[in-house]
Amino acid sequence: MKEYKLALVGATGLVGRTALQVLKEKNLPISEYVFFASSRSAGSKIKFLNKEYIVRELNEHSFDEGFDFAIFSAGGDTSKKYSPIAASKGCIVVDNSSAFRMDDNVPLVVPEVNSDALKKHNGIIANPNCSTIQAVVPLKPLDTKYTIKRIVYSTYQAVSGAGKKGVDDLKNGIKGLPPKKFPYSIFNNCLPHIDDFTENGYTKEELKMINETRKILEKPNLRVTATTVRVPVINCHSESINIEFEKDFDINELRNLLKNSPGIILEDDINNNIYPLATNATGHDEVFVGRIRRDESVPFGINIWVVGDNIRKGAATNAIQIVEKLIEFDKNK
Ligand SMILES: NC(=O)c1ccc[n+]([C@@H]2O[C@H](COP(=O)([O-])OP(=O)(O)OC[C@H]3O[C@@H](n4cnc5c(N)ncnc54)[C@H](OP(=O)(O)O)[C@@H]3O)[C@@H](O)[C@H]2O)c1
Repeated sequence: MKEYKLALVGATGLVGRTALQVLKEKNLPISEYVFFASSRSAGSKIKFLNKEYIVRELNEHSFDEGFDFAIFSAGGDTSKKYSPIAASKGCIVVDNSSAFRMDDNVPLVVPEVNSDALKKHNGIIANPNCSTIQAVVPLKPLDTKYTIKRIVYSTYQAVSGAGKKGVDDLKNGIKGLPPKKFPYSIFNNCLPHIDDFTENGYTKEELKMINETRKILEKPNLRVTATTVRVPVINCHSESINIEFEKDFDINELRNLLKNSPGIILEDDINNNIYPLATNATGHDEVFVGRIRRDESVPFGINIWVVGDNIRKGAATNAIQIVEKLIEFDKNK
């Protein structure tokens, strides 16, 4: 069987560390790994699959030795500079940053939703924003069956979505120390401010959700709006999603559709207080869906509550599922 070589860029970060865990669990046909970070972590050691690896500093020549795949989780600037270099050397890049997501030549992929888009890549594939990934997993089967007309997102996003510095801010905030990452203390607060504000008053995070949803669902004119909020939760984003459809539906049939769709765990039993929770979804690759109910203010609408592990399905797992699909396509060539 063919064996592959993979580079993990940003191996020392929150997403990178989780990617190591997911790679261990998946047991893909990868025989060689190289781990990259910045000069800060270069020389540090990573124990992985019974071997000790030395973290290397990323530079212009890092990809000269030849790789099949590189997963980039080291921020947009690093991706912008080094992903094209890696791709020019024949390495397929799966990028976790927002650098290339809206580029028409770059597929934006959630494997349960649009894995066919992978067949048209030019060396770089973008992993969507964490809050978008967990939303489109239930939205796709609903759109296929009932045709989505409008979406209203309201998110409750964990501090781990802002990397190690975000988690430190919450932990330090509990001790009364001032924030370093967020503009205000995240302890005891909800901040309606994720990423920078833009000219139209939306944050970049909100625009990412809007634009990426349209691209992944291949509905460029879909009416979508979003309010994204950082909350004092360590891990897992929670989202209230209001959806309006073109067609009517039977609520039990809709519930069963979600239950039987890939990548979803249905937790929807209000009589027993069963609904998705961040503390239960953490560590899982599936997206948890519950509180499914009719929106009685419009003809054909619903409200759902969606919780997902932003570091696993929202980043590391999705990127590795993309690599897994690419290996599958390569085998079937
Ligand atoms: N956290 C999430 O929920 C989430 C979800 C989706 C996507 N993402 C994206 O994934 C990326 C990483 O996020 P994170 O949460 O893991 O951040 P993080 O915990 O701050 O880790 C950042 C990683 O990038 C490395 N790095 C920084 N500058 C570098 C450079 N110039 N060259 C090489 N490596 C460099 C760091 O290495 P050092 O150890 O040397 O500093 C570290 O390994 C970001 O692009 C983020 O937007 C994150």
